Amino acid sequence: QKDKTVVSLKTDENAPIISKNIYGHFAEHLGRCIYGGFFVGDTSKIPNTNGVRNDVVMALKELKIPNLRWPGGCFADTYHWKDGIGPQEQRPTIVNKWWGGVTEDNSFGTHDFLNMCELLETEPYLSGNVGSGTVQELADWVQYTNFSGKSPMSDLRVKNGRKEPWKVKFWGIGNEAWGCGGNMMAEYYANEYRKYATFMSDWENTGGITRIASGANSGDYHWTEILMKNIPLNMLGGVGVHHYAVIDWKKKGDGRTFTEEEYFKTMQSALKMEELVTKHVEIMDKYDPKKKVAMIVDEWGAWYEVEPGTNPGFLYQQNTMRDAVLAGATLNIFNNHADRVKMANLAQCINVLQAVILTDKTKMILTPTYHVMKMYAVHQDAQLIPVNFTSPKYTVGNENLPAISVSASKDKNNAVHISTVNIDASKSHTIEVDLADFKLKNITGSILTSSKLQDHNTFENPSKITTKAFKGFENKKGKLAITIPPFSVVVLEGK
Ligand code: AHR
Repeated sequence: QKDKTVVSLKTDENAPIISKNIYGHFAEHLGRCIYGGFFVGDTSKIPNTNGVRNDVVMALKELKIPNLRWPGGCFADTYHWKDGIGPQEQRPTIVNKWWGGVTEDNSFGTHDFLNMCELLETEPYLSGNVGSGTVQELADWVQYTNFSGKSPMSDLRVKNGRKEPWKVKFWGIGNEAWGCGGNMMAEYYANEYRKYATFMSDWENTGGITRIASGANSGDYHWTEILMKNIPLNMLGGVGVHHYAVIDWKKKGDGRTFTEEEYFKTMQSALKMEELVTKHVEIMDKYDPKKKVAMIVDEWGAWYEVEPGTNPGFLYQQNTMRDAVLAGATLNIFNNHADRVKMANLAQCINVLQAVILTDKTKMILTPTYHVMKMYAVHQDAQLIPVNFTSPKYTVGNENLPAISVSASKDKNNAVHISTVNIDASKSHTIEVDLADFKLKNITGSILTSSKLQDHNTFENPSKITTKAFKGFENKKGKLAITIPPFSVVVLEGK
């Protein structure tokens, strides 16, 4: 059974550039994200560069990851960065209070992370400790990482083996300040933010640091309102928002084994992102009509129960076609709001929540979400082409969702990319794209699809789900008809 959706692509010279940073990632000291995921130590048998897994570096470079947020998450507001520098044997341990209560040895610290970012050719995004740290501590971190002249912190950095500063651009001032970051009221946090931001100088006056406020929990619009009202705009580079797709926080459902109803509920929660972005942006527009302050969705993704038999504090879950559909549809939302959404960070990169990579000792697999991120990398820094259409409905029980999600962009070489997702779990849909003034000739496509929604890659069968060439389209006189199978993600390229 097929339905037809008509999408018109509009040329708009003033359309925003889709910031590559929308395709950002997140690495917390949580479960096996850092230890065993990114970092195995330089004495490991697993091939590594200064302790960082080579297979992971290669895979993430293929994704062109534009930025990586670290060290948390909730962990960030317990983290004292000076414990993670200098000779390994002198580093104190830290108990990871939020995630499994495990004791770690601080062997992965500031140098390890920032050098790893250089290896990955990605921008670091450091989350500062506001909850249990001090203004001095965070100001020192900026000086340590960014100052090239003589100062107590840059001298210490040189002593620890790094002459040139790393010039970290993105700085989070606390994380989830309304929750694990200190259970603060919005008004109180806004004052804290102002104080921290004042002392976080850009040491070389290059205008190079972006200070980012810990943002709202999902639909807490009061939080955004207070931050926008009480923080001077010249102190505010970005305001965060966190939103996880979850069926029910008390009963999150299995990551691998789920019904269509559960899939629908997950997607309902994920697609709420459209409403959240729209409403938070409305508030931001009121105080910042020139859109100087970025919206930064620095945690997003699906959250299920952990894989049976794994540590509940480690948040290790499998990743199926459901996650691929969720990722494709969410990234389309961000692309379509590129005038305000300037950065987003999928939670989390390896072995935690909606990961793009899973590892098991020496083995590494790429998840369906990885493949979507790779297909969508073509949108990074391309100009948005606004899309206009009415989606057919995907109905389960008495409820419905838009079945189709689309975004499009034109890159620096004038190649047009259209990413489409069929959210409908049972029906194919035909999308007719009116190419209007885009005279596309050589059109090629790729698809991520599988026979079951629950399909996923495993260490035994790592390539069950991979991107394939897609031929299900026809271009007749500027009308491009794309027939997209249920729960699939398709990206077309035309020149
Ligand atoms: O990503 C897992 C956790 O979710 C983060 O530590 C926290 O910021 C959020 O609640």
